[in-house]
Amino acid sequence: MSKTESWGSRVGLILAMAGNAVGLGNFLRFPVQAIQNGGGAFIIPYLVCFLLMGIPLLWVEWSMGRFGGRSGHHSTPFILHNMDPKRALWKYVGVFGIFTNIAVAAYYCYLESWTLSYIWHSVAGTFMDMGAEGVASFFNSYIDISVSTTGIPYEAIWFWLLCLLLNTWILSKGLSGGVEKVAMIGMPLLIVFGLFLAIRGVTLKAGEHGAVYDGTVGLNFLWTPDYSSIWKPSVWLAAAGQIFFTLSVGMGSIQCYASYVRKKDDIALNAMSAGWMNEFVEVVLGGAIIIPIAIGYLGIDKVKELTATGGLGLGFKTLPYLFTQWGPWLSAIAGVCWFGLLFFAGITSSLAMGTPVMGFLQDEFGWKRGPSAWMFGLVVLLLGLPTVLFFEHGVFDEYDYWAGTVSLVIFALLEVILFAWVFGMDKGWAEINMGADLRPPTVYRFIIKYVTPVILAVVFLASLPGIWEKITAPASPYLHASRLLLLAVYAGIALLVRKAYLKRKRHAHGMV
Ligand code: TRP
Ligand code: TRP
Repeated sequence: MSKTESWGSRVGLILAMAGNAVGLGNFLRFPVQAIQNGGGAFIIPYLVCFLLMGIPLLWVEWSMGRFGGRSGHHSTPFILHNMDPKRALWKYVGVFGIFTNIAVAAYYCYLESWTLSYIWHSVAGTFMDMGAEGVASFFNSYIDISVSTTGIPYEAIWFWLLCLLLNTWILSKGLSGGVEKVAMIGMPLLIVFGLFLAIRGVTLKAGEHGAVYDGTVGLNFLWTPDYSSIWKPSVWLAAAGQIFFTLSVGMGSIQCYASYVRKKDDIALNAMSAGWMNEFVEVVLGGAIIIPIAIGYLGIDKVKELTATGGLGLGFKTLPYLFTQWGPWLSAIAGVCWFGLLFFAGITSSLAMGTPVMGFLQDEFGWKRGPSAWMFGLVVLLLGLPTVLFFEHGVFDEYDYWAGTVSLVIFALLEVILFAWVFGMDKGWAEINMGADLRPPTVYRFIIKYVTPVILAVVFLASLPGIWEKITAPASPYLHASRLLLLAVYAGIALLVRKAYLKRKRHAHGMV
């Protein structure tokens, strides 16, 4: 087994963890979820889910990670196994914590690569004279890889490969030498870019630069509580799903990052710092950019209509056009800020998806950092290819549904049961409190043991009809193939875990 890495500094760790959580989800997914679910009506379930599910899971996952790291485990199959070594089941549950990362990275890196191309086109002024229709159809032809948009044939593919190479290269530099450095530069820049755009959004005035409403109209839409839909299960499901996705819980990447924390270092306060930073970026910055700007120009009804069919349109089809209203200079700056912010948000998350995979290969098969980074890049390339080539056939959304939505809930439910009921709440609570620079309120002991598992079980049961509907609905061969592919990936990882387990057992016997 190679020497263990660890984080360079506390600030670096917090920024890397915040970077893990802060992602495309904060700026693209959150505003759309909020709009689709009625604005102010969404915020209350969202905040309740954060307090009763998000925070407990952060503490659980950070402490599981540090606990596993103490025995040299850096990926969830064996982090979980280590907590209840007698049962065979947990290591296969832990497979989720590798699977999700690979499968999400497969589509996430593609989305991330669009931002690189859009930074370039913002600087080059490509969008300036296109008009609203032109900017929207630019996006459509960009993702239709058989059409070339700017004279570069297969542009989307080149930027995708560039993005994968960048991720792989940074990962091969290691945690403190790569991931942490990117977070130290990227996160502050992201905040600066975000503040600039948020100030533009909030101070938008009706009548200036073609805006029809003040930016505050959008803010009011988001922040005026609306109790009427609070009993709608679909709103709660959406809120819970968003909390999962945005905090990166139920994915295995927090456990992995936390497993590189030193033995007795604080996790209670660190977890809160990273978690609240994510909420600030999501609710304050993420809520003050797309929503006020889009509603300021288009009005609430039009924006609702535009988001009805999915999340990516506003960010890539509408915003670049709205920026052009601000004149060539400001629109270039706004474009660089917006897509630059998305890029940093994206890459600090996709790097977090790489580490569990690398940790697994290093721990179990003695691979070196470089080869394991390249292996991750290669797997993402292969699994991502269908999302690139068959984007219009819904492969991208299919991955997002199974890996980015369903898996998280199942994994989180099982891991919290393991933590609170099998590992035991006494030991668990002691783990969370060990070396803590902040005393977690004692109610959380109760919440982790009873409330969080019950909420998770309810969320899971409530999503079953939707899952069933999805499985039984007629689907194209593309979708069937994607599902089979994802299943095969899960099975493949499970086989590797089994192999690693048998190898461990042999070694243990050989030693005595
Ligand atoms: N939380 C990230 C976002 O908001 C997404 C993310 C980060 C993620 N790490 C992950 C998704 C690991 C799956 C697996 O965009
Ligand atoms: N399917 C999502 C939606 O329509 C779009 C999406 C998928 C997305 N993955 C994402 C948005 C990751 C942001 C981040 O809302």
